[in-house]
Amino acid sequence: MLPSPSQPLTRRSSPVALDFQATTPCAPEVLEAMEPWWQQHWGNPSSRQHRLGLTAAAAVSDARERLAACLKVDPIQVVFTSGATEANNLALLGHARAMAEQTGHRGHLISVSSEHHAVLDPLQQLRREGFRLTLLEPGRDGLLKPAQLEEALQPDTLLVSVMAANNEIGVLQPLKELAAICQAHGVRLHSDAAQAFGHLPFHPTSLGVELASLSGHKLYGPKGIGALVMREGLPLQPLVFGGGQEQSLRPGTLPVPLIVGLARAAELALSDQEDRRIRLESLRNRLWQELQDQVGDVQLNGALEPRLPHNLNITVEGVNGNRLQQALRSRLLCSSGSACSAGTPSHVLQAIGRSQEQANASLRLSLGRPTQRDDIDAAIELISEVVGQMRQNA
Ligand SMILES: Cc1ncc(COP(=O)(O)O)c(C=O)c1O
Repeated sequence: MLPSPSQPLTRRSSPVALDFQATTPCAPEVLEAMEPWWQQHWGNPSSRQHRLGLTAAAAVSDARERLAACLKVDPIQVVFTSGATEANNLALLGHARAMAEQTGHRGHLISVSSEHHAVLDPLQQLRREGFRLTLLEPGRDGLLKPAQLEEALQPDTLLVSVMAANNEIGVLQPLKELAAICQAHGVRLHSDAAQAFGHLPFHPTSLGVELASLSGHKLYGPKGIGALVMREGLPLQPLVFGGGQEQSLRPGTLPVPLIVGLARAAELALSDQEDRRIRLESLRNRLWQELQDQVGDVQLNGALEPRLPHNLNITVEGVNGNRLQQALRSRLLCSSGSACSAGTPSHVLQAIGRSQEQANASLRLSLGRPTQRDDIDAAIELISEVVGQMRQNA
């Protein structure tokens, strides 16, 4: 159960939840859509000899078409994976290795130091395999400048990977401009869109993104499902081998309920996307304004625009990060500069120039569909109270 969203702080029995970029609760409509596919229609979509299997195959095909329609791509471009981590690995390792096999040469790759580890780590693996890797540094606003990409390109650059929206600081990278540069040089662009798809319009083809990674649980869908969206015919080597499913790019029995749930979640997310954007942006702006007024000496991490409407990431000056996190933990569910990567300070915040101390004293506050004005007011009250006490005792 999500904590009840509408109790004032003093009477709240449960913590304020502002951690919807870590994951989201499954929408009731998604649960409902998935329900028949666990028990009633339990067939394996690869069992083409009987009705049970054919029914499951038809559900997968229908879900693929509906997800593809949400992305404005052809259904054949959608490869279901276990999530965005796997989609990133398949895109990066799969394309780089396929190109190396075709050309007999391990070429050059470009990405950004503020990417998610699900992109950085497969790229480091490729580096160990003999590919060369350039990691560009974002500006202090978290954004990459198209000229940086232009300058970093080398004659054998084969792949560029830049995320659509940053998972910590929410900034939106200039994908369209980056894609135009890639196209002009015959280089492929991959984008990790786990935090963008379902929250803002995201259409890989019109953006010029040839490989895009998606995740179900970031858009009120189930955990354990995602997709790689790829331009048809793009060279790609599978990471695993088996029964030939998903054009042999991602073999293994397809998780029918999760696939149905992902498609339903994507449709729902698109149907309330604009209203949600407006509502959450207004609540997020209120949160930012009031934290500046009531807490004081707080810095915004990343540009305010262009940014996800439901993300705020702040550094609270003059407090010890560990103590701040400790004091908030039981009453506010959010993510800190030190929450990820086994307690090390956020590499994203350090990439935009924050010190380790500042990174530790940072909060990522992310709003979601259930967030109400009361939640925002309670968070403001709580952070002001805790920071006020800490500064007084310092
Ligand atoms: C930008 C980004 N990429 C990838 C992932 C991993 O997604 P998944 O949990 O679907 O593997 C996340 C989730 O934290 C993310 O925020």
